Formats: sequence, structure tokens, C-alpha cells
Amino acid sequence: MWLILGVLITIYFIHQVFNNILPHYFLVPSQKWRDKILKVINYDKPIYLKIGWKRSSFRRRLILASENPSFYTNYLNNKLKIYPGDITNKDKFIEETRRRDVDDPKRRILYGFYHPYANNGGGGERVLWQAVKSTLDSDSKNICAIYTSNLDSEPIYILKRVENKFQISELDHSRIVFIYLREFNKFIDSSYWKHFTILGQFIGQILSSLEVCFELSPDVWVDTMGLPGSYFIASVILRIPIIAYVHYPVLQEDMFNKLKYKKIGDITNIGNFQDLKSYIKFLYWSILYFIYVYLGSYVDLTLANGTWTFNHMNKIWTLNKPLGKQIKILYPPCGTENLITESEPSNERENKLLYLAQFRPEKRHILILKEYQQFLSNNYPGITKPTSDIPTLIFAGSCRTNDDTATLEFLKNETKNLNLTNFVEFKVDISYTEVIELLSICKFGLNAMWNEHFGIGVVEYIARGCIPIVHASAGPYLDIVTDEEDDEPSSPHKKDWANSIGFFFKSFADPDFNQSDQTRESNEDKLLLFEINGEILEFPTLEQLLTNIYVKEHELISHARLKKMRKLGQDLIIDKFSNDTFNKQWIGYIRKIDALEKKYRDERRGKLERVY
Ligand SMILES: *[C@@H]1O[C@H](CO)[C@@H](O)[C@H](O)[C@H]1NC(C)=O
Ligand SMILES: *[C@@H]1O[C@H](CO)[C@@H](O)[C@H](O)[C@H]1NC(C)=O
Ligand SMILES: *[C@@H]1O[C@H](CO)[C@@H](O)[C@H](O)[C@H]1NC(C)=O
Ligand SMILES: *[C@@H]1O[C@H](CO)[C@@H](O)[C@H](O)[C@H]1NC(C)=O
Ligand SMILES: *[C@@H]1O[C@H](CO)[C@@H](O)[C@H](O)[C@H]1NC(C)=O
Repeated sequence: MWLILGVLITIYFIHQVFNNILPHYFLVPSQKWRDKILKVINYDKPIYLKIGWKRSSFRRRLILASENPSFYTNYLNNKLKIYPGDITNKDKFIEETRRRDVDDPKRRILYGFYHPYANNGGGGERVLWQAVKSTLDSDSKNICAIYTSNLDSEPIYILKRVENKFQISELDHSRIVFIYLREFNKFIDSSYWKHFTILGQFIGQILSSLEVCFELSPDVWVDTMGLPGSYFIASVILRIPIIAYVHYPVLQEDMFNKLKYKKIGDITNIGNFQDLKSYIKFLYWSILYFIYVYLGSYVDLTLANGTWTFNHMNKIWTLNKPLGKQIKILYPPCGTENLITESEPSNERENKLLYLAQFRPEKRHILILKEYQQFLSNNYPGITKPTSDIPTLIFAGSCRTNDDTATLEFLKNETKNLNLTNFVEFKVDISYTEVIELLSICKFGLNAMWNEHFGIGVVEYIARGCIPIVHASAGPYLDIVTDEEDDEPSSPHKKDWANSIGFFFKSFADPDFNQSDQTRESNEDKLLLFEINGEILEFPTLEQLLTNIYVKEHELISHARLKKMRKLGQDLIIDKFSNDTFNKQWIGYIRKIDALEKKYRDERRGKLERVY
């Protein structure tokens, strides 16, 4: 009896904390807040604002009213001063601090980009900064707050780096506020948690987003790093819309399914210790998985960076669709549009197959070598030197580690063993200019990796006019070398091995090749059969593909057809992967989220809004 009462009281208490106490605490400034601001403004020397623990709500008001919001960063310390320009124009400034109606067209909106590693220079940061730029450009009332843990990097330094590294210029610095997170960063880091890493990181993200709320609560939560713990706080406490740009799922369903089927098989003999241990492990992963699904259900708009991620997110965040929350694809800007040349040289390109890839086993250069050798010995027996109608190979790539060097040596040796030295060129660690040169003179671009999630190299081939000949899997197959425009591919659909912008192959060596399918090899072209989602697809091997286009159906690579393919490919690439497309789509999504923000403000924050 007492126990039940105790539990009920605890639940009630937690409910109160999340529903009333914390939201009030983060969002509603203390009484007489305006007097406090006035006091600082009218003081004859610059002094700090006295705000106690109500930093977030004060900082919000100052930022939303200021002519220079970026002044209210907390780079040096967490105290608040007032921007001298705001003091000069104090009447206007004070007027601007007043509460605005939800529908007031002048109401400014604060987009919070939760991205603790904002100063890193990777692909995730490129997306972050391009999104910040689009958000600022889309409307002068938008302000971006960047929540970062790069404590040693000054705002101006970070912004300079963005300009140099990503060539994203003309950012309106005055509308970018940096909020430095100081307290819980180490808990986000996977290296802090020796055990239960993912669970630990979820907790770290929750703590860190509480700090975000404490320093400055935004109007829209944008997660560009994939930190699901933050969704809980943003949705339950702040009650604001959430956009998540997902590069990679934190957990994957097959990992979990594998454990599940294994466990259900031997659930009956939990007797010995080993079983118990793996049973607990299974339980742990199940719980994690459901936490991930649950946290994901708070996200109002999920943007996956490609089809591979999109398919995974759809399979994992199963609650989102029923709740009316969208999952979409938004490709990152690839910055390859400047590779596109207006005029293709009128003379024909050289009959060369270019493979641009780091020398690593998973790039499967060896597969290309072997298939190419087969192609030669089947069609041109006894040949020792290339002629003009026989394609040759170029392997160009970087060699960064000792392992890479070993792979390179192995390949050179194999080239010798296969008697291909006259047919294969190696270009190691060449400069970017030389890469562009190669892209401009070779007819075809190869990619042999299995299940490459994306494949920026293939985009570069197409942009510069190399016709892609690529392995039919993941990114190159679903995202890049596809001549259909589709925002939301339902499932991999049947595609020809030769479409209007490129060619596909598969291999017996593919990890997902089913040996028993081989028996169904019936037609004379001996295409390999693949079963993908219940559909039977046919692809040639690289050797068969080369035989097809160079020997049997030569019209497939006639000068005129290649020219057409090139043009179409470039148009598609610009359409899909350019900065312009990213900006346009991002702004479209921002508009939708804007509307949602108004709705939530009315529906979910009504009571708070009146005092807020
Ligand atoms: C999406 O992100 C993952 C992880 O960073 C990356 O491997 C993949 O190439 C990205 N996809 C696209 C389309 O950029
Ligand atoms: C597109 O943006 C990328 C960074 O995302 C930049 O490197 C590139 O120069 C931009 N290209 C154009 C044509 O604006
Ligand atoms: C090169 O290949 C030959 C023949 O397979 C082999 O005997 C030799 O050990 C290889 N050399 C190196 C350095 O791998
Ligand atoms: C390479 O050439 C040598 C000598 O002509 C020959 O003995 C050998 O069988 C050839 N190797 C292959 C893989 O064709
Ligand atoms: C391979 O294909 C056969 C026939 O379609 C099927 O029965 C079998 O389950 C498949 N094996 C795998 C590992 O997918």
C-alpha cells in the first residue's frame, strides 16, 4: 500500500519536474527582468547582468532583441554583458525585448545547432555549415546558435576555418551565436565509457543538452551529429520541433536481429554461466535498441544523407511514420559542380579505364585486375601490347599507411604475374591537378567496392565526364549512377546493367552472392542472378560487361552515345548533389519546421507562452 503510494508520488514528482519545473526554469526569466536589464544599461560603466541561475531566459531575450546577436556568445565565461551598440540604441533595444505573438511576422527564430565538434573539418561539419548558411540566407529573422565543445577555438577562428576549408563564404557572422558547453563534454565521448558505451553516451547527451537549455534554449533543435539523447530534452522540456540530419544509424537492426535469433534458439538452456552472460548481453542490446527507437520517435523531420542510411532509418525508427513524422533523403552538398566543364573537348577521350581509389583491400583492385585479364585472354588471345581498340587500366590513388604500401606492392606483383604490365599504369599520390587531368582524358571511371555507402569518387567521374562502370551495390547503385529521380525510393528496384548514364557489374566474390543461385545461370550471356528483396536481378561480371561493350554491343559505347550519357550524367549530378540543391531543399524543410514551431508554441507551450 505504502509502496504503491510512494511510487505514485515519485511518478507525479518526476512528471512535475519535466512538465513544469524545468520548462519554467529554462524559459521564464525572473520577475522584474526588465528592470535588471535597464539597470545595466543605465549604469555609467559596463557591468555584468545579475541573473542568478536564469541565464538561458535572459540570454534569449538579449539575443532576440539585439542588433548584434553574436555578441552574446559565452566564449570567455558564462556571464552576460550588454552589447554597447544595444546600449546606445537603448529605447529600441528595450522595445525589442518585449514578448511577441506567435504570428508576429517580426518574431525572430533561434535555430539551435547541437554539434559539439563544430570545429572539426569533416563531412559532418560541411553539412552543418552549409545548413547554417542556408538557414541564415533564407530569412533575415533567423538566428543560428552553435552549441560546441571546442573550448579552445575562438568563434572568429572557427568561422575563418569554415571559410577556408569548405569555401562557405558570406556567412552573416552577426547572426551566429556560439554557445560553448563546458560541463559534460567528456560524457559524450565514447572513450570515457569503457563499458556500456552507447548507453553511457545517451546519458552524456542528455546531460549535455540540459546544459544547452541552461545556457540558451533555442526555438528549433537541429542535430547534425547524430546524438539521440538530446531529443528527449528538446521535445519533453523545451517542446520544440527537432530536425535530425543522420549520416549513420547509431544502432543497426541486423546487429540486433542476429542476437535475437541466436538467443531465441537457445533460450531454453539458460542453465550455465556462459548462456546467462550472453542472455544478459542480448537483454542489454534489446533495451538499447528500444531506447533508440523511442528517442527517434521525438524527431519531427529526419533527413538521411543517402539511400543506404534512409533505408536503415526507415527500418529502425518504426514509430515515426505512424506518428506522422517524416523521414526523407537530403544528399550532402558534394562541391563537385566546379568539376563540370562547359565544353567537352571535341576529340575523343583516351580508351582508358580509370580507377581512382586509395590502395586498400576493400577497394578490390585485384578483382578488376583478374576480370580484366580474363577479358583480354578470352577476346584477344596472345596479345602482349595494347592497340587502340583495347582499353587499358589506370590505378590512381593515395598510399597513406604501410598497409596501403603493401597492397600496392601486391598489386604491382600481380600485374606482373598476370602479364599485364603493358596494360596497367599505377599513379601513386598524384596531385589534385593531375587527378583532374586524368578525369578529363579517360573514357571510363571504375568502382569495384562492395556496398560502399556513398562513393564521392563516382560523383567526380560523372561530373568530369568519365562514364561510370561501377559495382551494383549501395551508394553507386542506388544514389549516384541512377537515371531516375526519386525522392523516396521504396526499395531497390529492377535496374538494367546498362542505363543512360553508366554501367553496372557484380561479382562471384561478392559477400552476398548466393552460390545456389548460380545454378539458375541459364541464358547465354551468363549474367549473374541476384535476389534482392525477393526480386531476381541480373548483372554481368566485369569481364562479361567489358566483353559486352567492347566486343558484342559496341554501339553501347559509340562516340555519340557516350556524349549523350556524359551530358545527362552531369545534369543529374548538378540536380542532386550541388550546393544549390541542398540549399533549396534545406530551406523548404526549414519552412515546414517554421510552421510546426508556431503550432507547437500554441499547442504544447500555451501556458508557458503567456508568461514567457
Ligand atoms: C553518409 O554518412 C556516412 C557516414 O559518415 C558516409 O559513410 C556516407 O558516405 C554518407 N553518404 C553520403 C551520401 O554522403
Ligand atoms: C559548394 O559548397 C562547397 C562546400 O560545401 C564548396 O567547396 C564549393 O566551392 C561550393 N561550390 C559552389 C559552386 O558554390
Ligand atoms: C610475387 O608473386 C610471386 C608469384 O605469385 C610470388 O612467388 C612472390 O612471392 C610475390 N612477391 C611478393 C613480393 O609478393
Ligand atoms: C605470362 O607469360 C608467361 C610467358 O609468356 C607465360 O608462361 C604465363 O603463362 C603467362 N601468364 C598468364 C597468367 O597468362
Ligand atoms: C540462396 O538461394 C536459394 C535458392 O533461391 C535459397 O533457397 C537460399 O536460402 C539462399 N541462401 C541464402 C544464404 O540466401
